[in-house]
Amino acid sequence: MSQFKSLPGFRAFYPEEFAERRFLFQVWRQMARRFGFQEFDGPVLESLELFKAKSGDEIESQLFSFEDKGGREVALRPELTPTLARMVAARANALKRPVKWFSIGDNFRYERMQKGRLRCFTQLNADILGEAGPAAELELLALLVNTLQGFGLGADDFFIRLSDRNLWMLYLEAQGFADETAKILEIVDKWERMPTESVLEKLESIVGDRAQSLAGILGSFLKVRTLPELTAAFANAGEGAEKSEAFQARLNDWTTLLDGLEAMGLSEFVEMDLSIVRGLAYYTGFVFEAFDRAKENRAIAGGGRYNSLIRKMGGPDMPAVGFGMGDVVLADALKERGIMPQFVDTVDAYLVIGGDAERGAALADANALRQSGFSIDYSFKNQAFGKQLKTASASGARFALIYGSEELEKGVVKLRNLADREEEDVPRSRLALELRDRLG
Ligand code: HAM
Repeated sequence: MSQFKSLPGFRAFYPEEFAERRFLFQVWRQMARRFGFQEFDGPVLESLELFKAKSGDEIESQLFSFEDKGGREVALRPELTPTLARMVAARANALKRPVKWFSIGDNFRYERMQKGRLRCFTQLNADILGEAGPAAELELLALLVNTLQGFGLGADDFFIRLSDRNLWMLYLEAQGFADETAKILEIVDKWERMPTESVLEKLESIVGDRAQSLAGILGSFLKVRTLPELTAAFANAGEGAEKSEAFQARLNDWTTLLDGLEAMGLSEFVEMDLSIVRGLAYYTGFVFEAFDRAKENRAIAGGGRYNSLIRKMGGPDMPAVGFGMGDVVLADALKERGIMPQFVDTVDAYLVIGGDAERGAALADANALRQSGFSIDYSFKNQAFGKQLKTASASGARFALIYGSEELEKGVVKLRNLADREEEDVPRSRLALELRDRLG
């Protein structure tokens, strides 16, 4: 074993592992393109400042940050959203709206290592900017579902919890906790993972002796699963809260979004569940996370609306919503279900070369065939035919092209189908045509 181990949380991808990675990227890219998203990328190293205020405390504590040789405070990106917001802010007036962009790239977080959590992971990010209404959420939820379906996952395997920070604000305001919303939502975020006593202790530190009643208020809101239950929760929250203009507008958005999901046939994938509030600081409205039904504690994807970030990046008022999907939890979900395809990187044809006298012809054909678009491999050394044919079969190549002295004298090579071992002579001048014919 080498003394130079890779760092904890950083992966090396051997070819079989890289092939799996390429498969994830292919499906991601194909689905994003199907939904009309354009691909982009930003720098992986940014100024520390960009993430400090924008991403929130949790991510800030996980930053890979250092001083570069020019004395700048810099950080590897823990997420793409602040960079995207800055890029869009810089060209906001020139960009055709809605902006629908996606990106596939590495992110870095100094996390406590556990299953599903690494320090370098890859995300698909898909974001829509310039659309304030829930049509944007609908498009993103549809992309999220279709992408997971594209990997062979179905409604038995995953579901999306849909929530709304805006509703939380309105609800807490109606209950008289307007000033404490941010701190209360931090607790809601950890609610499921915390014992009741710790919840109460934390609430007490924020609202003192109102903690017990606040716990009840939060608990009942967390049970809401339908729009009628939501209206009832607001009706209980305070004088006419369910009739307020702000609540009615939100209810409208929810209805539009849920109706849209129904129209697309996607309702079975999405559940209203207000326990999702998301740890990142910039979310302002709808928020959502996709979960593996078998392992609910780890999200495959997460996202939401962030309507003020573009302005904070020096741009105009521009509504935005998006999500990030990580490769680690996704690959685990596929492997655990045995639906990660097995890949072999192979070539179209392997050249089996008689010896020095035949090598020249083989090299000439190898180069010509490669220029015609075929993938070709051959042994660098002179070896017995049998040994080369074995290598050819083991490589997974479809065909072997055999360069023997007798064949070359006749201007042909033997083309062997490695699956059924059928052989035939093919004129060297027709090799590309014959191969193309057989490879389809
Ligand atoms: P996030 O919830 O922090 O959101 O990350 C999204 C997904 O990235 C997670 O659901 C998870 O699959 C994956 N992920 C996050 N951290 C790790 C890790 N340490 N190891 C492995 N996978 C991880 C965001 O990053 C937002 N910027 C998404 C977004 C885009 N919001 C709006 N637009």
